[in-house]
Amino acid sequence: MSAKVTNNNTEVRSPLILAIESSCDDTSAAVLRGNVVLSNIVANQDVHRQFGGVVPELASREHQKNIVPVVERALAKAKIAKEDLDAIAFTEGPGLLGSLLVGGSFAKTFALSLRIPLIAVDHMKAHILAHFIEDEERSAPEFPFLCLTVSGGHTQIVLIEEPLKMKVIGKTIDDAAGEAFDKAAKILNLGYPGGPMIDKLAKGGDASKFKYAIPKTEKFDFSFSGIKTSFLYHLQKEMKKNPEFISENLSDICASYQNHLVSYLLSKLDKAISAHNVKDIALAGGVSANSQLRNRFRQLANKHGIQSHIPMFEYCTDNAAMIGIVGYFKYLNADFADFSVTPKARLHF
Ligand code: KG4
Ligand code: ZN
Repeated sequence: MSAKVTNNNTEVRSPLILAIESSCDDTSAAVLRGNVVLSNIVANQDVHRQFGGVVPELASREHQKNIVPVVERALAKAKIAKEDLDAIAFTEGPGLLGSLLVGGSFAKTFALSLRIPLIAVDHMKAHILAHFIEDEERSAPEFPFLCLTVSGGHTQIVLIEEPLKMKVIGKTIDDAAGEAFDKAAKILNLGYPGGPMIDKLAKGGDASKFKYAIPKTEKFDFSFSGIKTSFLYHLQKEMKKNPEFISENLSDICASYQNHLVSYLLSKLDKAISAHNVKDIALAGGVSANSQLRNRFRQLANKHGIQSHIPMFEYCTDNAAMIGIVGYFKYLNADFADFSVTPKARLHF
């Protein structure tokens, strides 16, 4: 059931919010009534595949092409007329500036023409608050909780005290966890994005066969560049001895590397749980699709006797529904953006 807004004990209907996400290479639009998703449309950009990574200029152009049809589909699927919308939420950052500008300019113009409020949303907070999208099969985390956010651009451990009150207690000092997967996959010639391929090939491989460097970082911080370099050097050394090393050991290489990354991520979360009085932990971002990470994340929660939360797959990777749920919380606080707001490639909270 949708949450209701109450005003002087009078029940009023939950707000209808259109949300736009365009921070990287997915153009997405969603319509939410309160915390209930009525539609969530995502247009992926296949154009980057041949380049082995996202090409920013091509991404902006694809967003420009996709944005109107994606919004039209989201409104049609939700069976909502644009005149019924109460607010428009959009991704303010972080992300690729050219991509953010497309979604931001569209959201501003649309909100202005409809004379409704505009809500600016932090993409990283949205990954976390995706846990609060109404879902009959999952309960939302209880406050305070810790969230491990692992995506292609970010790796963070965040302490969430209230929906809009959160603090980053650990972060990567160089690459993100998703990049560590993708760069290794590129070296192995597995295509882009490589995370899902490593996950698939790791099944059936020997996870303890090869060892990689363990970075030394402060408290709950991460570093992935040294792991990536040790992965590369190990392969180069083995290939000198046996040029067929990769093809003969592919499954074991993927299993060992994945196991190393997952162990490293969870070792930091383990320490963070011990240092904070939380009853719940949550996982967010595209890498939370990783099967080993999901399993061991649940085991870690069991070890501490606390609850684990992983959102529906659709809400783990980039999507506008997660922007819409933050929009909903901000709407309740009447936290609206000024129309002079500009997207930001970097945004810290
Ligand atoms: O959150 P996301 O969709 O986009 C960003 O905001 O970055 O995350 C994308 C990242 C990519 O690096 C991709 O390789 C990784 O998530 N990923 C995975 C898996 N599925 C997606 N990494 C490991 N195992 C997976 N199954
Ligand atoms: Zn993301």
